Amino acid sequence: MGEPLLSVRDLVKTFPGRRSRAGRAGAPIRAVDGVSFDLGAGETLGLVGESGCGKSTTGRMIVRLLDPTSGTVTFDGTEIGGLSQAQLRPHRRHLQMVFQDPYSSLNPRQTVARIISEPLLVQGTGAADARKRAAELMELVGLIPEHLDRYPHEFSGGQAQRIGIARSLATSPRLVIADEPVSALDVSIQAQVVNLMEQLQRELGLAYVFIAHDLSVVKRVCDRVAVMYLGRIVEIGDKAEVYGRPAHPYTKALLSAVPLPDPAAERARERIVLLGDPPSPANPPAGCGFHPRCPKAQEVCRTERPLLRIVGAGGAASGGAAAGGRQAACHFPEE
Ligand SMILES: Nc1ncnc2c1ncn2[C@@H]1O[C@H](COP(=O)(O)OP(=O)(O)OP(=O)(O)O)[C@@H](O)[C@H]1O
Ligand code: SF4
Ligand SMILES: [Mg+2]
Repeated sequence: MGEPLLSVRDLVKTFPGRRSRAGRAGAPIRAVDGVSFDLGAGETLGLVGESGCGKSTTGRMIVRLLDPTSGTVTFDGTEIGGLSQAQLRPHRRHLQMVFQDPYSSLNPRQTVARIISEPLLVQGTGAADARKRAAELMELVGLIPEHLDRYPHEFSGGQAQRIGIARSLATSPRLVIADEPVSALDVSIQAQVVNLMEQLQRELGLAYVFIAHDLSVVKRVCDRVAVMYLGRIVEIGDKAEVYGRPAHPYTKALLSAVPLPDPAAERARERIVLLGDPPSPANPPAGCGFHPRCPKAQEVCRTERPLLRIVGAGGAASGGAAAGGRQAACHFPEE
C-alpha cells in the first residue's frame, strides 16, 4: 500500500457508565479500546466480530458521527479526528456511511429525491442540479429515476438499501463506511446489493470499510479483514491469510462456525464452540480480553495483555499497530 487513504491510530471511545437504580454512576464503557489500521484508496477492509465488540462505534468515529475520546483518524493526509464540525465540512463529502436498516436510516417523510440530494444541498449545490444528480444516482444504483418523488415505504428493503447507497454516493466520496449494509436483507437480495457495491467500487474507485457479523459476506467483498473483540482488533491481515490460516484463537472459532458449501468438508471439520457471551466492555477481564473463553488460555493470558504483533512470515518482528502484514494479539498464535 502506498500512502494510505485512511489511517486510524489508537482510536478509543468511552461512554459514561449506566447509572444504577440508586443513582450511582457505573464503570465507563470502553466501547473501542485502541483500534489502529490503514486502508488504501479503492480497497475494502472487512470489520468483523460479535455483537457489541465496537464495530459500529469505530465506523461512526471515522465519519465523525461520534467524537473519538482519543486517538487519530487521518484521512487523505489530514487529521480529522479532532476537527470541529465546521472544520470538517470540506472533508465530509469524501466520507460517507451506509447503515444496516434501510428503512430506519431514510426519513419516511422525505421523497427519495430529497433524501438522495440532501448531502449535496448541505454542500451548497443548487436544488435543480441536486435533483438532476439524484436522478443519475438512482440510475447508477439500478433504480428507476422516474420514482424520485416516491417515499421510502414504497420501495422494497433491497431497493431502500439502494437508495441509502445512492445517498452515500451523492457527493462522490472516496470512502464509504458500510455498517452491516446487507444484514437486514433477504439472502437473495444481499447478493444483489453486494454486487452493486462491488461494481460501484470498480467504477468509482471507492474504498470501503465493510462491517459485518457474517464472515462469508466479508470474505467475498474484502481485500483485508480485521477481527474485533471487546473493543480491540485481535487479528488483521490479507483475506486469504486470515481465512486460510487464522492465527488468533478467536478468529479460528468464528471461522469454524461458518458453514462450508461441501457437506463432506462440513462433517469433517472441527467446530470450536465459544462458551458464554463476550465480557462487558464496562468490566473487561485482566490480561487477554478473550481468556475466559479461550481454549488455549494459559496463566500468562490472565495477567498480561497481548499486543498486536506480526505473525506468520516475518516472525517475531514486532510491527507497529498498523504495519502491513498479518498481525494477531495473542501470546500463543497459530504460526
Ligand atoms: N451511546 C452509547 N452509550 C453507551 N454505550 C454504548 C453506546 N453505543 C454503544 N455502546 C456500547 O458500546 C459497545 C460497542 O457497541 P457497538 O454498537 O459499537 O458494537 P457493534 O460491534 O457494532 O455491535 P452489533 O454487531 O450489535 O452492531 C457495546 O457494549 C454497546 O452497548
Ligand atoms: S493470549 Fe491467551 S487467552 Fe488470549 S487468545 Fe491468545 S491463547 Fe487465548
Ligand atoms: Mg453495530
